[in-house]
Amino acid sequence: MPNTFKRTLVTTALPYANGPVHLGHLAGVYLPADIYVRFKRLCGHEVIHIGGSDEHGVPITITADREGITPQDVVDRYHAMNADAFSRCGISFDYYGRTSSVRHHETAREFFLDIERKGIFVRKTEKLFFDAKAGRFLSDRYVTGTCPVCGSPDANGDQCEQCGTHLSPLELIEPKSKLSDAKPELRDTLHWYFPLGRFQKQLESYVESHRETWRQNVVNYSRTWLNQGLADRAITRDLSWGIPLPLDEAEARGKVLYVWFDAVLGYISFTKEWAELQGDPERWKRYWQDPDTRIVNFIGKDNVVFHTLMFPAILMAWNEGRSEGRYELADNVPASEFMNFEGRKFSKSRNYAIYLGEFLDRFPADTLRYSIAMNYPENKDTDFSWTDFQNRTNGELADTLGNFIKRSVDFTNSRFDGEVPSDISAEEWNLLGIDWQESLGRLAEAYDGFHFREAATQTMEIARFANRFLTEAEPWKVIKVDREAAARTMAISLNLCHALSLLFYPVIPETCDRIRAMLGFDDAIGSLSSPGVPVWEAAALPGLSKGHRLKGSSEILFSKIEQADLEPELEKIARLLAEAEKREAGAQQQKMTFRPEITFDDFQKVDLRVARVLECEPVKKASKLLKMKLQVGSEERQVLSGIAQYYKPDEMVGKHVLLVANLAERTIRGELSQGMILAVEGKDGRLFVVEPQGTEIIGNSVQ
Ligand code: 2FM
Ligand code: ZN
Repeated sequence: MPNTFKRTLVTTALPYANGPVHLGHLAGVYLPADIYVRFKRLCGHEVIHIGGSDEHGVPITITADREGITPQDVVDRYHAMNADAFSRCGISFDYYGRTSSVRHHETAREFFLDIERKGIFVRKTEKLFFDAKAGRFLSDRYVTGTCPVCGSPDANGDQCEQCGTHLSPLELIEPKSKLSDAKPELRDTLHWYFPLGRFQKQLESYVESHRETWRQNVVNYSRTWLNQGLADRAITRDLSWGIPLPLDEAEARGKVLYVWFDAVLGYISFTKEWAELQGDPERWKRYWQDPDTRIVNFIGKDNVVFHTLMFPAILMAWNEGRSEGRYELADNVPASEFMNFEGRKFSKSRNYAIYLGEFLDRFPADTLRYSIAMNYPENKDTDFSWTDFQNRTNGELADTLGNFIKRSVDFTNSRFDGEVPSDISAEEWNLLGIDWQESLGRLAEAYDGFHFREAATQTMEIARFANRFLTEAEPWKVIKVDREAAARTMAISLNLCHALSLLFYPVIPETCDRIRAMLGFDDAIGSLSSPGVPVWEAAALPGLSKGHRLKGSSEILFSKIEQADLEPELEKIARLLAEAEKREAGAQQQKMTFRPEITFDDFQKVDLRVARVLECEPVKKASKLLKMKLQVGSEERQVLSGIAQYYKPDEMVGKHVLLVANLAERTIRGELSQGMILAVEGKDGRLFVVEPQGTEIIGNSVQ
């Protein structure tokens, strides 16, 4: 991709500070962004990576209520935990901020007020549930009730976890407030709406102008929204946690900005905070307000429309009527698909996850980075499994890369006194069997196009080549007859170690620094390049000359993962899966909501009879129905029953069934039904006809 930009601003979706980040988050957003940023830095490109915690939103207050602590306590805990996990994983943010910061509140207020002053927001009064006991309006998540679709008794006001249906709190049957269990009442409340439709045309041309360079999923999600026509979006909420509406009016009291309105602006406020720390507070402008900067937002697929429509529309609103201080829009929004975990979706709420910090307590960051890069969910969902992780670590990192580096360094230390024993000419280097220019070009293309699995795969190919080269050259044998030839082999091998330390740096930076240290350098790879000073190209040339001293000792770069190391993880997986299944089965049972109580007298009204099926046939154009002729005592009845999916007509003939004999007659699909036969529902929704056993007297009532 031709890159005419002078610098790059990379942002990564701000994870909610409401729980620890897991491997799914790492795979979709943070690792790819870090790999990209490290590559750009190696190329001498000016790039910064801005991220941070999303510290507002209702789930945070729900956690606080549940634990009896304040929302601030919640975000303090998870902000620190996630920042630490990212740092241990080598995610090299230039700045990691928090949306609870003063600067962020100020930036969000500034945007709100600018758009308010321009008269762009629309105010609308709506009816919302209010908990009179708690004296608070209830946002969707604070209302619970019975799902109108599946009958689950604890559906949330925005979604039923059981059947996945998106709901509005008004649709819930018997809604209850989560704050007090009280039945909420509907009250009028005023809200500020952002009229996305006003920017429809501009957004359409924004999306279409990037249709060739954005991923298909990003273009498709955005187009789907645009094709439906963009509606007004409420950007205020009746909550106490968040950024208070900066207006003096009485109607603005008790309201905060909607979390998504403020979160996307976090990218800007954090860049300001970064600039302040650089001692150049105005420096953020060169990243946001200069068309020479390329803005790239790394996100997961669930965040697409907020980044391709909502955030751009906010910036368009700001830009309206301005010739200076205009914001640039993102040039690319690489949204990942999802990475699953052992075949199931990661789920924080269901505790089905491996958390990043936990993982790093057990295994080195680079083994994870490599494994995930090789499973990067670029165009389709992928899966992280322990077996794959073990195979990649043992077979690729340890046996191929680690083994090659250690053999090269050890042999040089023992047989050539720890010095590079020969010079390698550029010609010899180019005749090795790798077209360096072409390989580096292809790698750069892969990185620039966000094809990180491709980049990691190609680099491992170079390591395989190097390992094979050393094995086949057999310097340990050759040295006995031709020391000079063995010296050349070792000089080539050491130069390959050097090249690999640069080429693999974006993916496994810590390992590459360790390789560099074994090669006798005491500086870190990250310190070699700076804007305008590339080191990436150095990999295309032999980087070590004759006489260069190695460190003199070696280390094992990757320890093999034994089956015993994985046992606790496999046990944990089995436990998590069993728990998930149990929860699902439990939810299935909870689904049974009972109808209001009836009295014995009510029940007495039902006349149950045993009947025998005389004939049975399907009903035309009604795939679920069977039509039966029943013998009930001396009488014959015709009854229709919705059991055709579960019983063939022949199977029914001769069966004894239970009939509700005094049910009012009705016509179904043009056929008369004189009663109803009883059936019960099994676990998977299958129906079983109730069959009285050992009955001899047909037509007796059932007591
Ligand atoms: O989905 C999420 O986890 C959000 N907290 C992402 C926000 S991205 C950005 F806009 F801040
Ligand atoms: Zn449901």
